[in-house]
Amino acid sequence: MLFPRHSIDEIASGAFLLAGWLTIDEQRQLVDRCRALQSAEAGMYRPTVRGGGKMRLDMLCLGRHWNALTYRYEDTRADFDGRPAPPLPDDWRALAARAAAAVGFAIDADVCIVNYYGDDGRLGLHQDKDERPETLAAGIPVVSVSLGDTARFQLGGLKRRDPIETLGLESGDVFVFGGPARLRYHGVARILPGTAPASLALSGRFNLTFRQY
Ligand code: SIN
Ligand code: MN
Repeated sequence: MLFPRHSIDEIASGAFLLAGWLTIDEQRQLVDRCRALQSAEAGMYRPTVRGGGKMRLDMLCLGRHWNALTYRYEDTRADFDGRPAPPLPDDWRALAARAAAAVGFAIDADVCIVNYYGDDGRLGLHQDKDERPETLAAGIPVVSVSLGDTARFQLGGLKRRDPIETLGLESGDVFVFGGPARLRYHGVARILPGTAPASLALSGRFNLTFRQY
């Protein structure tokens, strides 16, 4: 009997959940790469946002740096240590393009924001709207790859007060939101500790969001 490796669900117009899209071997390789990035010289850091609060996750931007104080992209990490943003690996760009194509979108990613959530990690409801106006207008998607512990992911509408749907993003899932869903509010309400596949030996969750600036 054949078991499909993954399923594709259109959660809302332009928002797709590719559940189980990555094999466990692919997940393990990505987790190893994330760990190496985490502890590299220009590694992960805990961003401080406007108003002085700390985010509830560790971040590392590849390709271009997203400045948490100005909400702008730049070449160097001006809000942290002034180092250049490490490059976005070509095979990661290709992975993003492949996932987008699976649901009918095209992306030439030049940014990946790698987030690490510990047991108490979370991310408030927000829109991804700091990319170029042309990218947003064209509805070029964000491709989000989940590794490790399951996240309770919130998907809202185009207005902050719109109703919110909660989905579990598990290790190996890819969530793609573009077209009419590109500017939907979203966030991570919480992480479910201890839910990562045992063979990843990972406590917490890495999330990679690929974007075309
Ligand atoms: C993000 O919205 O930038 C990250 C979403 C996630 O961690 O799933
Ligand atoms: Mn986001």
